[in-house]
Amino acid sequence: MSRVLSAAVVSSVGLISKAFLYSGLCSLQVNGLHNLEDALNSPKRAAGQGVVTVCNHISTLDDPVIWGVLPTRYYFSAKTTRWVLGASEIMFTNPLLSAFFSLGQTLETFRGKGIYQDAVNVAIQRINQGGWVHMYGEGKVNQPCTYPFDKLGQAHLPRFKWGIGRILMEAKIQPVIIPMWLTGFEKLMPVGRPFPYNYFPRPGGHLTITFGEPVSRNEISQALNDFRNDGLYTAEHVSEVRRNVTSILHRGVESLGRSVSGPLLGGVTREP
Ligand SMILES: *[C@@H]1O[C@H](CO)[C@@H](O)[C@H](O)[C@H]1NC(C)=O
Repeated sequence: MSRVLSAAVVSSVGLISKAFLYSGLCSLQVNGLHNLEDALNSPKRAAGQGVVTVCNHISTLDDPVIWGVLPTRYYFSAKTTRWVLGASEIMFTNPLLSAFFSLGQTLETFRGKGIYQDAVNVAIQRINQGGWVHMYGEGKVNQPCTYPFDKLGQAHLPRFKWGIGRILMEAKIQPVIIPMWLTGFEKLMPVGRPFPYNYFPRPGGHLTITFGEPVSRNEISQALNDFRNDGLYTAEHVSEVRRNVTSILHRGVESLGRSVSGPLLGGVTREP
């Protein structure tokens, strides 16, 4: 029963997201969608190869709205609908929302509970079943205007949570990893507007969604360096591998971001 309900929620949310994205309220530019489609439709998935997508997180609306760019038939198959880690304190705040997001394939993630919590375990399981898991590497919304700068004046994406590294270290078959970059979503739900407008997206924005080429499998294999989860390594070694793997994904998303938004990552809008 709950499977049927879940499938219904997932496909309706997909359709609503699509209706919103293509309603004309906002302009939309999608780049490289074939990168995700190729990963999702790869024949290797039949042999259990999972898919990981990872991107910046600039608005609470990012998910599920971004998946509106996928062709409709994708909303009706478990292989082509994503599981996503979602923050408990934002998405699971009452029983109704909790039910809705759980049915919508959101894994309730608790800030501060670390990388060995249930949501991360389930994400690993899904990948090991050949599923698709989406992650917001930063683990929370960071608007581009808050990104830190380095000495050269380049903006950086805040660091990614180590759970990502754990997920890749424990995947039985290395998943395909597609980096993504979002822009404009932060302007859909600006904070500080009066009720009830704060509950509705603001029209007139310009949104872009970019899907990059898969992260290099070799680079990931090298960082994993024959790591086996067999308890033979020191805790320091394990956490260093985890950091290294996580930083490959961070670099992948950040460099895709530079190619779309420039060295400031969209963090500063120049005043005329
Ligand atoms: C982590 O990456 C650094 C830099 O590439 C490398 O020197 C180090 O050996 C890696 N650590 C592990 C445990 O693989």
